[in-house]
Amino acid sequence: MTQNIKLQNWVKEWAEICQPEKVYWCDGSEEENQRLLDEMVASGAAVKLNDEKRPGSYAFNSDPSDVARVENRTFICSAKKEDAGPTNNWKAPADMKVEMLEKYKGCMKGRTMYVIPFSMGPLGSNIAKIGVEITDSAYVVVNMRIMTRMGQAVLDVLGNDEFIPCIHSVGSPLAPGQEDVRWPCASNIDDKYISHFPETNEIWSFGSGYGGNALLGKKCLALRIASNMAKREGWLAEHMLIMGITNPKGEKKYIAAAFPSACGKTNLAMLIPTIPGYTVETVGDDIAWMKFDANGVLRAINPEAGFFGVAPFTSAETNPNAMHSADKNTIFTNVGVTPDNDIWWEGIGWDCPAGTIDWKNKLHEASSTEAVAHPNARFTAPANQCPCVDAAWEDPAGVPISAILFGGRRPSTVPLVYQAFDWNHGVFMGSIVGSEVTAAAIGLKAGVRRDPFAMLPFCGYNMGDYFGHWVTVGENAPDKSKLPMIFNVNWFRKSPEGKWLWPGYGDNIRVLGWILDRVMGNVDAVETPIGFVPNKEDINIDGLKGQAELMDALLEVDKNLWLDECELIAEHQAQFGDSLPKELKEQYENLKARLA
Ligand code: OXD
Ligand code: MN
Repeated sequence: MTQNIKLQNWVKEWAEICQPEKVYWCDGSEEENQRLLDEMVASGAAVKLNDEKRPGSYAFNSDPSDVARVENRTFICSAKKEDAGPTNNWKAPADMKVEMLEKYKGCMKGRTMYVIPFSMGPLGSNIAKIGVEITDSAYVVVNMRIMTRMGQAVLDVLGNDEFIPCIHSVGSPLAPGQEDVRWPCASNIDDKYISHFPETNEIWSFGSGYGGNALLGKKCLALRIASNMAKREGWLAEHMLIMGITNPKGEKKYIAAAFPSACGKTNLAMLIPTIPGYTVETVGDDIAWMKFDANGVLRAINPEAGFFGVAPFTSAETNPNAMHSADKNTIFTNVGVTPDNDIWWEGIGWDCPAGTIDWKNKLHEASSTEAVAHPNARFTAPANQCPCVDAAWEDPAGVPISAILFGGRRPSTVPLVYQAFDWNHGVFMGSIVGSEVTAAAIGLKAGVRRDPFAMLPFCGYNMGDYFGHWVTVGENAPDKSKLPMIFNVNWFRKSPEGKWLWPGYGDNIRVLGWILDRVMGNVDAVETPIGFVPNKEDINIDGLKGQAELMDALLEVDKNLWLDECELIAEHQAQFGDSLPKELKEQYENLKARLA
């Protein structure tokens, strides 16, 4: 329990609004977790998986309308519209609160209101932030227990201090005697809201029970709200993995890397090197909070305690470490369940057993073309079960970051790897991250979909001001010589005939090896108009058949393609108007001048 009067009053106030049948404060204990899971199995919401194959693990299937983050219903409610910027949905805070309070009134009737105290970051770390989530979903409680440090221990650390209040309801009250459904949620998309109030550090979520919409510590707090706090307080809250890399000489460096969703971030974070002598260890696979320490070194913590990974196409082949992380004590959502109560998804590496129940709770017929697992099916697994988890992954001081990587899917134009000339050039590189989309992708214009810093759906304020914040962080660095070097990588370049030029996966260590060599000052590089590109002999391609002939094409910087790219960059920059920092305009002009 807590003596924190503000917290007690806040819970009381929301209980009066939502009118739950009861209020329950989560202590985070094993006993509590098991009780909630048992209740959900009894109600039919969850399936207990085979205890021999997947001890302590459960499968849930969502409502077919509630399967992913809802970006078009995600709002940044700053007082001024321009503070949300051109890339976010905005509504005035007071208007949003009036509209949502109508929804919240009585929304938990017939349900339990759970109070979840949680810490993003190791308990007691000075980088960590404490939130309290109110929710009417027991599924959220058991997931938050894996993804965050949660329960009484958090209240003990919180004492009478401030917390970040997070309200969540699935938006599906029960009338007396009404039977519950397996996955309650608001069935109409317009009844879903993921709202953020950056000036008051509040999160209000309504209508969805899925992932980032409902586990409010992750994208809502650790990225959208934290990016605002980071700007105010002079640090960085980023959509980045954190990994440690040790080279054959035993020298270890940590890097952070940002890629848009679906570019293999979890795979990279847990990579198994294909060249002998290298080791990769994982600190985090999704979010990095970074601050300078007293010696001017930028240090990063992973604010999360688990992985919320995409299941389909994760296999012993593509990511054995992720598979082992999910061996036990894992929650699976929207995967198939086999007759012996194991899990199955497309690309898991073996055939789908007859009698498997698909994510829509229907028997999967061998002849069916329907997916067994939803493409955004997930596993929620504790990070400490990852075989390659880094020894320092919970170090409250964070790990020192030597390099920052950006990347997207770019079949043409962008070389396998290039290095920024300096910090501001690196910020420019981050600001133009993007993936090429073909006209076939529904609703998208063919071309490059920019996802600056991979933060497009997660930046909690004006993206132009966010670029400015990155510039300021470089300017204010206590010791500029200790700033991480910045790189862009592209595993996805193709030949004009459409063939991949790079094998990817475990072979990406060959590029990371070059990056480490650059960080340690071991190799020279070729200066090109876009940045430093490797001398091809400095990328170790031993044992890769046919790769030597592809290296020129893979590392090529084609001036004409880059001049075309400049036109796209100009269009991209134009949307930010006056909020685009002059330093990035300058970077653009300099790039054009170097290409001329
Ligand atoms: C995620 C995402 O789920 O980036 O991590 O979409
Ligand atoms: Mn992510």
